[in-house]
This record gives sequence, structure tokens and C-alpha cells, in this order.
Amino acid sequence: MKVIILDNAEQVAGYGAKIFKQQLADNPQSVLGLATGSSPLILYRILIELYERGKVSFREVTTFNLDEYLGLSGDHPQSYRYFMNRNLFDHIDIDLANTFVPDGTTADPRAAAREYESKIAEAGGIDVQLLGIGYNGHIGFNEPSSSLGSRTRVKTLTARTIADNARFFGKDEYQPHLSITMGIGTILDAKNVVLLATGESKAAAVRNTIEGPISANCPASALQLHPATTIIVDQAAAAALDDPEFFKHIERENQKLQ
Ligand code: F6R
Repeated sequence: MKVIILDNAEQVAGYGAKIFKQQLADNPQSVLGLATGSSPLILYRILIELYERGKVSFREVTTFNLDEYLGLSGDHPQSYRYFMNRNLFDHIDIDLANTFVPDGTTADPRAAAREYESKIAEAGGIDVQLLGIGYNGHIGFNEPSSSLGSRTRVKTLTARTIADNARFFGKDEYQPHLSITMGIGTILDAKNVVLLATGESKAAAVRNTIEGPISANCPASALQLHPATTIIVDQAAAAALDDPEFFKHIERENQKLQ
């Protein structure tokens, strides 16, 4: 696990964007795993700017998103398909047919979940998976108590996640309590994982992910088993780590080696 501690959210996104830029330079046909929420927004903005400046192309890229609300269609403003189109896909040269988000309106969510796994496998697996993290340590919609070997499936959201996300829904608007999400096992299969976390509200989850026991109580702690995970955080999200200075020291040493 590589832990990078930076000063602010802009730097966190910039570091993450560099990893994606390098991935696209190394392999223009990359398969990217993407996330929604506030954490990836600046990174997506930077990728759009890089595209506009001719530094990256998504023409041959395939993407798989982590999750989607069950019950929302892609044209619902709170659906994750809508989010991805508006915040990234509409602004780059990606072929929308190569962008996959679980289908929130499927009549058979279990079959759709199995099919999603098959599509990822057919694409050759995910090269880089982007993650945010919930205050409770969730990744995707894998809430605490999720099996660490889980695959894409239907998950019930916790009351806390529903409350956290309520800000995006109108007062009388229907807010789904179920989702289809990649499993933790699905995420661990990605060749590289990049997790972004900023702000003090994420500090406990970041500590439990990096230093805590590997436990279903903090689903992101399963990343300790992943061979190529980079966790990029700002000072506030790193504040509860036992020894943040050690991670900064490692990064300085790595920079010297390069
Ligand atoms: C989003 C997702 C979630 C978020 C997490 C953090 O696709 O799967 O796990 O990454 O809830 O959300 P933000 O970034 O809004 O704090």
C-alpha cells in the first residue's frame, strides 16, 4: 500500500490524475474503473482539461463504474450514469457504448450483476480502479459487514449512507435504499487501485483502512491485501494516522530514487 499525503484536495486530485494519464499513455485501450461522489470530481476536471489540451485520449478506453442506485434510470439527475455523463463522459472523446454503469432499472438485478462481472472479465479486467471512501469505510456500496470476497451484487445501504447522500435528493424525492455494486473481491481484482480521501470527516476511515485490522467493519481495509493500491489523502484525512511523517518520508525517498 502506497500512502501519499498532500496539502489539499487539488493536489490529491492532481496526483491521482497523473496516474491515469500515465496509464493512458502506456495503454490507450485501458480499462478504467470509475467512481462517483465528490471525491473524484476535481480529478475528472483535470482529465477533461488534459483531453482538451490534447494530452490524453479516451477514444479506445473502456470504463466500468463501481455502482448504481437500484430504481433510478440513467436520465435521473441523481443516478450515477447521469453523474458520469455530466461530469466526465460528455466532455471527452470516449465512445459511450464503451462506458458501463450497472443498470439501475433492470428487472433482474441478480442476473444484471452476474452479467456485469462477465463484461469486466471479457474486457480483460480493470487496469486502474478509482475509489472514494465512505465515513464508515465503505468502498463502492460495500457497507460494513460486506464479505471481503464479494462480487457484483445487490446491496442494502446503511442508514448513515442514506443520510449522507440525502443532500443530493429533494425533500420529497424518492431516495433508493438499494444499489448494485461491484463487490470487494471485484475491486481487489483490479490491477491497480487509487483511493482518494480528503477532509477530516474521512480521517477515521483512512486510519482504519491503512492501520486497522483487515475487517468487514471497514471494507476498505481489504485493500491491505491488494498488491498495488495507492491511497492519496490530504493532511486532514491523514490526521488520525499513527505516523503520517513516516509515509511522507517514504515518498521523499521514492522521489529521490526516481
Ligand atoms: C461512489 C461510491 C462511494 C463513494 C463514497 C465517498 O461511486 O462508490 O463509495 O466513493 O461514498 O463519497 P464522497 O466522495 O462523496 O465522499
